[in-house]
Amino acid sequence: MKAIRIHQFGPTEEALQYEEVPTPEPGSGELLIKVEAASLNRADIGLRKGTYRISADALPIIPGREFAGAVARVGANVSEFNVGQRVVAYPSLGGYAEYAVAKASEVRPVPDGVSSTQAAALPTVFLTAWFGLLEDGKLKAGEWLLVQAGSSGVGNAAIQIGKHLGAKVITTSSSEEKCRRLRQLGADVTIDVSQNDFVPEVMRVTGNRGVDVVLEMIGGEVYQKSLQVLAPGGRLFSIGGAFGAIPDPPPPLTEGRKASRFSITNYLKAKPQDFRQLDAILKLVREKKFQVVIGKTFPLAETRAAQRYLEGREHFGKIVLTM
Ligand SMILES: NC(=O)c1ccc[n+]([C@@H]2O[C@H](COP(=O)([O-])OP(=O)(O)OC[C@H]3O[C@@H](n4cnc5c(N)ncnc54)[C@H](OP(=O)(O)O)[C@@H]3O)[C@@H](O)[C@H]2O)c1
Repeated sequence: MKAIRIHQFGPTEEALQYEEVPTPEPGSGELLIKVEAASLNRADIGLRKGTYRISADALPIIPGREFAGAVARVGANVSEFNVGQRVVAYPSLGGYAEYAVAKASEVRPVPDGVSSTQAAALPTVFLTAWFGLLEDGKLKAGEWLLVQAGSSGVGNAAIQIGKHLGAKVITTSSSEEKCRRLRQLGADVTIDVSQNDFVPEVMRVTGNRGVDVVLEMIGGEVYQKSLQVLAPGGRLFSIGGAFGAIPDPPPPLTEGRKASRFSITNYLKAKPQDFRQLDAILKLVREKKFQVVIGKTFPLAETRAAQRYLEGREHFGKIVLTM
């Protein structure tokens, strides 16, 4: 089969090799899936550069943390899935390939009406926003939510989940065109940070009170300024500092405010059974209550171009490889 493998960390041309590799065998408790679509995530960039979770002695690896397709073979001791069934998998590696193996516990059925491209784009961003907002954010109906970088994959998901939970959603982005699309997705208030500082804007919109919850993912100055717009009792949770440092541990705050860090990988390691809540998200997508915004698709052979596109700042929503 064809796959993208990383033999050495580095820039796209050195790290991402499109090559012929043996098709993997499903072991006990596993499925072999014919991959139709695999989505890219910001973490894939760190993985390629050698800064995210995998060390050099584990190479070569096939990246791709999530993918969708059809079950090609069922390993021993799997009773829940059948050959030909449409599924989405979230095993953390292996998806940039024509075939990939996943544990049955990391796989969910895809309902009719949801495409493989949509399904592959869901797990990381929707589960992160879903559990982050519910567990760390404790977001309630009627509260103000600020989503930083609304045009990111996680941002798109968080805006829609925030509205679904009955919150009032403010989001930031770097252009008026992206802001327009974010309002179409449901954001109540958008702030174009290329034109305006978000701090006075958020304070103005919330009557000088600030927001109840912040989903932060940029880091550096944006993280620090996000603390300034947190209302008393407010919760800021950070899912990463892709473009600046974040304090570790999170700083202590006054008047009942709380800052925390959230990781979907660590969350699902602690509560693996919660992965099944992806079914509720798939149902909401099938009912067209959630949109899966696909920014662009690329063929597997053009993965280098796809990652370069993700590293730029033009995209809106998810980037997906198709096989
Ligand atoms: N902890 C977790 O469990 C978890 C899970 C998933 C993702 N994450 C993290 O969440 C963040 C978002 O991930 P994603 O895959 O959804 O992101 P993404 O689609 O790659 O989007 C990132 C966005 O960040 C904004 N941005 C702000 N400053 C930027 C800069 N200096 N350069 C380029 N873009 C900048 C851009 O939007 P604008 O142009 O509109 O500002 C860009 O679209 C990443 O930090 C990722 O590592 C964490």
